[in-house]
Amino acid sequence: MASLLLSANAVVRGEQTIGDFVLIHLFLIQLSQPLAFIGGVYREIRQSLTDIEVLFGLLETPAEIIDSSNARDLTVPSGSICFDDVHFHYADDRPILRGISFDVPAGKTVAIVGQSGAGKSTISRLLCRFYDVTAGSISIDGHDIRSVKAISLRAAIGVVPQDTVLFNDTIGYNIHYGHLDAGKEAVWNAAVGAKIDGFIQSLPSGLETEVGERGLKLSGGEKQRVAIARAILKAPPILILDEATSSLDTKTEQDINQALDLVLKDRTAIIIAHRLSTIVTADEIIVLDKGQITERGTHQNLLLQNGVYQKMWNRQQAFQEIEQKLKSLT
Ligand SMILES: Nc1ncnc2c1ncn2[C@@H]1O[C@H](COP(=O)(O)OP(=O)(O)OP(=O)(O)O)[C@@H](O)[C@H]1O
Ligand SMILES: [Mg+2]
Repeated sequence: MASLLLSANAVVRGEQTIGDFVLIHLFLIQLSQPLAFIGGVYREIRQSLTDIEVLFGLLETPAEIIDSSNARDLTVPSGSICFDDVHFHYADDRPILRGISFDVPAGKTVAIVGQSGAGKSTISRLLCRFYDVTAGSISIDGHDIRSVKAISLRAAIGVVPQDTVLFNDTIGYNIHYGHLDAGKEAVWNAAVGAKIDGFIQSLPSGLETEVGERGLKLSGGEKQRVAIARAILKAPPILILDEATSSLDTKTEQDINQALDLVLKDRTAIIIAHRLSTIVTADEIIVLDKGQITERGTHQNLLLQNGVYQKMWNRQQAFQEIEQKLKSLT
């Protein structure tokens, strides 16, 4: 800038020509571009070094769950689950599960209901061994899950989680992830089973549509159906559905439940549900309250017990009736 001013002055005084002024201007432009470039490179190198530091920090983080040295692969001939007096807390001063015992015989379905924060999702996290129990034990087909390799345990379990997080990739990949060896046809059949085929067909890029970071370009119900399709494709011996259809409208939910009934047939399943109408056929329903089982039995049994379950059922039925009446008015 200063040299331009000096040059302009010199031109006015007649010591330099306009050509000299333009030349100096050009020199300055030529000089500033590489300087800005070097600045950019420097910034990027700094950022990369910071990222590498974070990466090494992550790599050095010790895993909370480590396979024992004599851990074996879990082979799942039948898939029966047993929770035996399970106690658990995330933080020492706040117990979450306090003496939970239940069995899911092979091929049967157990439903868990209860207030928010009762510990329902915690039960599914413990079964996948994302955390170890504080006391008691969980076993599959008689093998304590702490004695088997975590990777084989998780391969045997399919989860449709409460809050589905997708990979920043295509819808097709996100479904395919359930079973990466599966062919294209199997992926599409899973999409049909999860009733997401219509939505995929309506997209210009179909299965190749990118879902965005954590799947943020999809609605809650679409994400849930991708997760269901993934579980259908994985077809594991044990299935956990954690509020798997909570973001869907009643019609889609009913359709999917039919597809899920097929998947659940002959599979061991734990279903966590808020809408009780979706679990009436479960072999056993467990009512969880503040980490303890307060009621248990089949749907019919529980209705006769005149307890929390019956109250929840009546409230939801009344609500549904009002909803239907409102619909018939409009
Ligand atoms: N990672 C965690 N660290 C500490 N506390 C946690 C953690 N995850 C859950 N909790 C606490 O454990 C309790 C049980 O959580 P959980 O997710 O099992 O509830 P839930 O029964 O599934 O509830 P909802 O119906 O709302 O999904 C909650 O009070 C929650 O605050
Ligand atoms: Mg939950």
